[in-house]
Amino acid sequence: MAFFRTVSLSEPAPAITGNGVVLRAPHAGDHAEWAALRQASRDFLTPWEPIWPADDLTRGAFRRRIKRYAEDQRSDLAYAFLIFRAQDNALVGGLTLANIRRGVAQTGSIGYWVGAPFARQGYMSAAVRTVIPYCFGALRLHRLEAACIPGNAASVGLLEKTGFQREGYARGYLCINGVWHDHLLYARLAEDPK
Ligand SMILES: CC(C)(COP(=O)(O)OP(=O)(O)OC[C@H]1O[C@@H](n2cnc3c(N)ncnc32)[C@H](O)[C@@H]1OP(=O)(O)O)[C@@H](O)C(=O)NCCC(=O)NCCS
Repeated sequence: MAFFRTVSLSEPAPAITGNGVVLRAPHAGDHAEWAALRQASRDFLTPWEPIWPADDLTRGAFRRRIKRYAEDQRSDLAYAFLIFRAQDNALVGGLTLANIRRGVAQTGSIGYWVGAPFARQGYMSAAVRTVIPYCFGALRLHRLEAACIPGNAASVGLLEKTGFQREGYARGYLCINGVWHDHLLYARLAEDPK
C-alpha cells in the first residue's frame, strides 16, 4: 500500500528554501563555520542539549557526524539540516528530523538549535515553517513530534508559534546536560491548519 511505503532517497536531500532561510544537509566544508558558531554559543546551548563529547568540535568528530547523518538519511531514519540565512548564506543553526517511524506511524521528531548571535530573530520559526511542508510532502510523514524541558521558554514559544499542540508530559524523557529531565510533548499533524 503506497501510504505505508518507506521513502527511499538515494541522492542527498535537496536544499529546502523559504521564509528567508535555506536548509541543506551538512558537508565536510561546513566544519569551520559550524565549529566557530557552536563554540561561540556553548554557554547558550549546553543547558538544553545532551552533553557535548570532549572532541565534539574537532574536524574528525564532524567528519564522523556527517557520515552518520548520511547513513541515517540513506536508511530513512533521520534527516539533518544546517540552516543558512538566505541573504548572505551565514550559518545560523541546525535542525534535525530524527526517530522516523514508518509503517502505521509515519512519524518523526524534530530537534533544533540556533547560534547565540542569531537568537530571537525569527530564524528557527522560519526554518520550522520551511521544513514542515517537506516532512508532510516529500517525506510523506503524517505526524511531527517535538519535546522540550518545561523551563525552556524559547522552545515552548517556538513550538506554539509554529502550530505544534501540547499533547502531554513525559517524566525523565531525555538526558539533557547530564540530567534526566521531564519534557513537554508537542506534535503537529499533516492535516492540522497551516
Ligand atoms: C529554541 C531556539 C531554537 C529558538 O530559536 P530562535 O531562532 O531564537 O526562535 P525565534 O526567534 O524563531 O522565536 C520563536 C518564538 O520562540 C519564543 N522565544 C524565542 N526566544 C525566546 C526567549 N529568549 N525567551 C522567551 N521566548 C523566546 C518566542 O515565543 C518567539 O516568538 P516571538 O519572538 O514572536 O515572541 C533557540 O532559543 C535555541 O537554540 N535555544 C538553545 C537550544 C535549545 O533550546 N534547543 C531546543 C531544545 S528542545
